[in-house]
Amino acid sequence: MLLQSERMRPFCFATMVSLLFPFLAALGGTLTSSPTRSSLQHLEVFNINADGSSSVPRYYRFEQLLTLPQITVKTATDPNTQQPATYTGVYLNDLIQALQSSPEGTVLGANCYDGYQQYYDPDYTEKHHPIFLLKYDGKAPADWPKSEHNSPMGPYCVVHENFQSSETIYGYTEAPRIPFGIVSVELTSYALSFGKFGAPDRHNPEVVKGERIAIGSCISCHNNGSAGGKMAQRPWQVLAANSIYNGNYFRQYVVNPQKFKPDVAMPAHPTFDSVTLDALQAYFKTMLSGN
Ligand code: HEC
Repeated sequence: MLLQSERMRPFCFATMVSLLFPFLAALGGTLTSSPTRSSLQHLEVFNINADGSSSVPRYYRFEQLLTLPQITVKTATDPNTQQPATYTGVYLNDLIQALQSSPEGTVLGANCYDGYQQYYDPDYTEKHHPIFLLKYDGKAPADWPKSEHNSPMGPYCVVHENFQSSETIYGYTEAPRIPFGIVSVELTSYALSFGKFGAPDRHNPEVVKGERIAIGSCISCHNNGSAGGKMAQRPWQVLAANSIYNGNYFRQYVVNPQKFKPDVAMPAHPTFDSVTLDALQAYFKTMLSGN
């Protein structure tokens, strides 16, 4: 797996100077960034440009993030540890504002060390109030417990106080977007994130359903160009080709990928029955030449 967090930048004079002025940062609810990263705990932030490329990154210190409006909530079951927990953090909406996004930059992408990615748009944040976690049971990230699978939860993760799914389509149910091991966030537009997965022809309602299912279930690991996660290293066009020319394999793989690759990190989708798979295939069929 690619450890993006190891792209360290040298600790330079500019960082030392910026460290001397920590509280200027919080004025007006926005934060002043540094051009260098001297700790993995620094949050890397970049913008996605209109051509899909990434801007030069900027960095924010943990202490700076602590100056944003914070909330503390309790959850009955933390998804990383399966234990009750107390979360202290910043609502993602407040984080987006503080990071001085442009007016089109309404979507935040959280990028994890292993290429996994989740996007947050205003619709999701209004419904589910995701929290960018800063303290777990009062502790800073260095002291966070390991997740169930012994992976680090930090340097950052996104959690919810009490997630309630708001959408079901056939055998698909909306799942919480709960990445851990977040090393950077990107500010992007709807068009350059979710929009890249929009079906070119939306007349067929099954295609539209398939699009919702795929966006909800697949884009965290399968990218389309610069949009979506790159964990799988199998971009959208590969999935589309599989769904058209190797439909049986596609259907079986989605339901139970471990049957083909025992250690694969792709989750099984046991609730995806044949109508769910039909909708997914109808959607992917429209995506092969869609770009
Ligand atoms: C947590 C990450 C993750 C998610 C979510 C995910 N996948 Fe995957 N997917 C993978 C990985 C990893 C592989 C294996 C790549 C390899 O063989 O090395 C893979 C492989 C595949 C393959 C086989 C491709 C090939 O070339 O043989 C298909 C088809 C596929 N995924 C479809 C989907 C679909 C459709 C969804 C959504 C319903 C989905 N995946 C969701 C990680 C994911």
